[in-house]
Amino acid sequence: MPRNLPRLPAIRSAADPEALAEAVRLLRAGALVAFPTETVYGLGGDATDDRVVAAIFAAKGRPRFNPLIAHVPDVAAADRIAVLDARSRVLARRFWPGPLTLVLPRRPAGGVSLLATAGLDTVAVRVPDHPVALALLAAVDRPVAAPSANRSGRVSPTTAAHVAEGLGDRVALVLDGGPCRIGVESTVLDLTGPEPALLRPGGLARGTIEAALGGPLATAAPDPARPAAPGQLASHYAPVRPVRLGARTVAADEALLAFGPRPPEGAAATLNLSPSGDLAEAAANLFAHLRRLDGAAVRAIAVMEIPEYGLGEAINDRLRRAAAPRDDDAPMSQVD
Ligand code: TXA
Ligand code: MG
Repeated sequence: MPRNLPRLPAIRSAADPEALAEAVRLLRAGALVAFPTETVYGLGGDATDDRVVAAIFAAKGRPRFNPLIAHVPDVAAADRIAVLDARSRVLARRFWPGPLTLVLPRRPAGGVSLLATAGLDTVAVRVPDHPVALALLAAVDRPVAAPSANRSGRVSPTTAAHVAEGLGDRVALVLDGGPCRIGVESTVLDLTGPEPALLRPGGLARGTIEAALGGPLATAAPDPARPAAPGQLASHYAPVRPVRLGARTVAADEALLAFGPRPPEGAAATLNLSPSGDLAEAAANLFAHLRRLDGAAVRAIAVMEIPEYGLGEAINDRLRRAAAPRDDDAPMSQVD
């Protein structure tokens, strides 16, 4: 049934200095390299080269060109591609490296491909908090565009094996840095307007940013005509099986994605995001558990209720999209 199964890419341990050097060579030569970050694995390519960015979209099978995050090793490198005001500097100093992406005015001379920014005069920038990513970015010495290293509409990868399964040899090399510590993508914050606006909940909790800014964050109203963060659209991170949220009981032909100390009994298979009810642990397990349950021979995946505070906001955001109705004929519904 599966036609043209992609062959597996090379997976090499990021602890091997030669593998890291090879990744740098490949990126500088315009190839695609998957690398670990603290959130999820990224599908990296030279962000200054339109053809490379186009190859990223092709490898993901993205139905349309959404703007990508430019990854850099430090604030100085961010300064070269974007304009940071006082507010951005406060956030950068406080949270970089870390799971916060800032949408900033783009510096035209900064060289980031217009395809990577979808023609916008803004650019999304992030400094990932992972030693492998930082070493790679410093050595490559140019911004690296990196969406999550999964095929469009599929669950984001938190291990090197997930990347290899999903992308096959569409990626030249997968640097293996072990499982991702945070497990959900970065929080995307728009700083180009008068008020900072949360475009995508993610690995840095809203409350932590609000405390640093000293005030509440606006949430960008979803505009289906021109989404600022298309990752916000429905049916994203979709497992193959239907997903049922807010489960208090479970059927014998369902798999259960549990949370907390007292999951209901009777599921065909159960994986617990965090038996102790810890939201950070739950975020780290989210995509890997969803994948494993999706592989079980069940009718559906039932998911227990997750509290909506702290990292729960990002977890629930991803779960709602995993549960959203799908329509394979509607490319807008699966963008990442
Ligand atoms: O954790 C992460 O952020 C991962 C790892 C690999 O770093 N990367 C990631 O990238 O999730 P991606 O391309 O899948 O998500 C980028 C998000 C999308 O929601 C996109 O719409 C938004 O950032 N974005 C990028 N550039 C933007 C811009 N100029 N204006 C508004 N939103 C933008
Ligand atoms: Mg993604």
